[in-house]
Amino acid sequence: MNIRFDGKVAIVTGAGGGLGRAYALELTRRGARVVVNDLGGSRDGTGQSDAALKVVEEIAAAGGEAIANGASVTEYEQMEAMVAAAKERWGGVHILINNAGVLRDRSFANMTPDDFRFVVDVHLLGSANATKAVWATMREQAYGRILMTASSSGLYGNFGQANYGAAKLGLAGLAKTLHLEGAKYNIRVNTLAPTAGTRMTEDIFPEAAFQAFTPESVAPAALFLVSEDAPNNAIVGAGAGVFQAAHVTLTQGVRLTGDALSPEGVAAQWQAITDRTGEVVPQSGGEQAMMIMRKLQQ
Ligand code: NAI
Repeated sequence: MNIRFDGKVAIVTGAGGGLGRAYALELTRRGARVVVNDLGGSRDGTGQSDAALKVVEEIAAAGGEAIANGASVTEYEQMEAMVAAAKERWGGVHILINNAGVLRDRSFANMTPDDFRFVVDVHLLGSANATKAVWATMREQAYGRILMTASSSGLYGNFGQANYGAAKLGLAGLAKTLHLEGAKYNIRVNTLAPTAGTRMTEDIFPEAAFQAFTPESVAPAALFLVSEDAPNNAIVGAGAGVFQAAHVTLTQGVRLTGDALSPEGVAAQWQAITDRTGEVVPQSGGEQAMMIMRKLQQ
């Protein structure tokens, strides 16, 4: 089965380099028309450049169709204008890859509230802005594929990335509710946690790893997750051609009553509470409450 994107219009934020550029190039190679969004700033989010335009030129040279957009994902009105421009040019928007991102790493002790706010603003609120800007269009079309970019730092933590990790797990959370709200409009929302050698990781990856962890080896996951037959509500890890699935699980739990319904009771049962036998992956928050109700009936 050939995965193609003919007739589809995609927006890739932060596509002026790194992973986003690889996604945009591969999408256009497979028939999509792409808005290459990028503010073109430095890794910490300062400055601006014509990074998006350069990728559009690259796509055009390879025979693909793309337009550049230099807006910041942090500005909702600019995201609305970007969607309007894509619709005017190509008649719709079918795919959104929320990929734009910045870093302001520091141990939490040394992190300023501004560093925290800025990183959450770009990743989490920026993705919410772009998603909100396409949401009504995707509902009207009864077609939408949206990808959030999380990170192992968000799913599992990483020293020095409290701001980034909080934003990234927030994106997985955003996807978990949007996949429910979008389902009846054929809007599917997935989350990707990539690992790639880009300017974001150039000073932490050893040279050999940098060579193996190419953006191109992550792109197959991104493209599958925004394709016609994409799953819904998946969290996928991808790096160097290795693909994984991450789940937010829940143990069966223990019901405490009487004197045991106390901090001491929780302490005494801690091993049983955290026992992973029979662990499940709830598909909505309501399922946790349902499990509790079932325990009460036992
Ligand atoms: P990158 O720095 O090459 O790409 C990020 C792009 O976003 C840059 O081109 C930047 O100009 C753009 N951008 C930043 N602020 C923006 C804004 N306000 N509006 C529009 N564009 C903006 O880094 P990379 O590695 O390609 O990152 C892509 C995504 O993948 C990011 O969300 C990052 O957090 C995530 N990620 C990357 C990992 C890696 O190993 N490289 C690991 C986990 C997540």
